Amino acid sequence: MSTAAPLRVIQISDLHLKSQSGTRLWGVDVDVSLNAVLECIQNRHPQPDFLLMTGDLVGDDPDAYHRVREMLKPLGIPAYCLPGNHDFPAVMSRTLRGDVIGRKQHFVVGNWQFVLLDSSFPGTPDGHLGYAELALLDTILALRPDLHTVVCLHHNPVPSRTSWLDTMMVSNHAALFAVLDNYPQVRAVVWGHIHAEFADVRNSVHLLAAPATSVQFKPGAPGPQVDDVPPGYRWFEFHADGTLRTSVERIKPVNA
Ligand SMILES: [Fe+2]
Repeated sequence: MSTAAPLRVIQISDLHLKSQSGTRLWGVDVDVSLNAVLECIQNRHPQPDFLLMTGDLVGDDPDAYHRVREMLKPLGIPAYCLPGNHDFPAVMSRTLRGDVIGRKQHFVVGNWQFVLLDSSFPGTPDGHLGYAELALLDTILALRPDLHTVVCLHHNPVPSRTSWLDTMMVSNHAALFAVLDNYPQVRAVVWGHIHAEFADVRNSVHLLAAPATSVQFKPGAPGPQVDDVPPGYRWFEFHADGTLRTSVERIKPVNA
C-alpha cells in the first residue's frame, strides 16, 4: 500500500426524501435518519474528499431535491450523485447543479477516476444500462488506462441474495461485465438500491453496496421486510497504488 495520503470518500445511498419533513418510509422517519447518518459521518470522518450518492435521493417526489441540497449543505463536503429508480434524472441534474451536489458522470481525482452511470429505466423500478451509458464507460476506460477506476450505479449488477430485489437488478449485467473485463484498471463497482450491506470480489474487482440512510431491508427475505439494523454509510480509502480499504458503519440504534 502506498504511503501517500489516500483519497477518502463516503458513500451514502437511498435517502428517499420527500418535500415535506417527517415523512416515514416503512416506519422510518427519513429526515431524522439522514440527519443521524450525516452527524455520524461528521464525527467519524470530518474531512472526506467527497461524498458519493448512489441514487434514490428522493422518494418519487421531484420537489424534494431542494431539501436534499439543504440537508447536505452544512457538511461543506463536495458531493456527486447519480439517479435511482425513485429519482427524476432530469430534475436531479437541473436542481443539483454545482454548489453542494453535482451530477457528474465522470471525474478524476489524483490517479483515480469515477464513472457514475444511470441504471434507471423510466417508468419501472428495474435496472438497465442503456447503450449510451455502456458506450460512455467503454470510452472512458479506453482513454485512461492509467487511472484506477471506480464504477458507480444504483442497481445491483450481481445478485444480492435477496430474491425480490434481484428481480430489479441490472438486466443487462452481462453487457456491463463484458466492458469491465476488457480493462484491468477497474478496481471497484459500487451501488445502492438493496438497502443493505454487500461485499464480494469478482476477477479482483470489488463489488460493494452501501446500506440506505433510510429503511434497511432484511437480506435473504422472500419479500420486502424491514431489517432492525440501523442506517449507515460506506467509507473508502483509495490509495495511489490502486488498493482500497472500505467498510460500512452504522449509527447507534435510534431507540437504544
Ligand atoms: Fe431505495
